[in-house]
Amino acid sequence: MACPDGEHLVEALGAEHDRSTFSSGIPVLDEYLQHRANQDKRRNVTVPFVLISRDNPQVLGYYTLSACAVRLAELPSDLARRLPRYPVVPTTLLGRLAVDQRCRGQGLGEFLLMDALFRSSVHAQEVASYAVVVSAKNEAARSFYQKYGFQALIDDENRLFLPMSTISGLFV
Ligand SMILES: CC(C)(COP(=O)(O)OP(=O)(O)OC[C@H]1O[C@@H](n2cnc3c(N)ncnc32)[C@H](O)[C@@H]1OP(=O)(O)O)[C@@H](O)C(=O)NCCC(=O)NCCS
Repeated sequence: MACPDGEHLVEALGAEHDRSTFSSGIPVLDEYLQHRANQDKRRNVTVPFVLISRDNPQVLGYYTLSACAVRLAELPSDLARRLPRYPVVPTTLLGRLAVDQRCRGQGLGEFLLMDALFRSSVHAQEVASYAVVVSAKNEAARSFYQKYGFQALIDDENRLFLPMSTISGLFV
């Protein structure tokens, strides 16, 4: 997807992307992109997407998407009540999301998040998914997601979700 600024775009991670200089300030997120993302992609356990500038392969941000399941009991009771009594609910995991420290505060984190939500909602039209689930690394990450309406799953304040019905409404 192309960013409204006309300068940035998001692509599925490929061999042409330069991940070597990526620095989010969170070593585990940098290490993942540089050393494990490709392997996880090959093994079909996640799909990494990267943010780049047009005509420059240097990665400026990334996120990952996978299928996942949450237990019905982890959803707030007002939502769980309206779902069938299956033990688990299909969801989409936005496992990681990060922007290089040198590019923060320019709207790129929001663009990456919206790209991930849009992609998830398109996919959910053919493979059902009740919500997008995120795993926040810390308080700052939690408040970033809460700004966009994500709410915590029961008993784990670091795992948050946004219903697919809400997400689809963002893109009508
Ligand atoms: C969180 C992160 C992706 C935000 O990236 P960014 O490019 O700086 O964010 P944007 O410029 O798109 O900001 C979008 C909005 O979110 C807000 N925001 C950014 N970081 C925030 C935070 N930590 N808490 C609350 N709001 C935040 C911005 O103020 C902005 O809101 P505004 O438009 O009302 O001013 C980035 O700080 C990052 O990579 N952090 C380290 C990794 C991380 O924590 N990832 C998240 C989960 S693992």
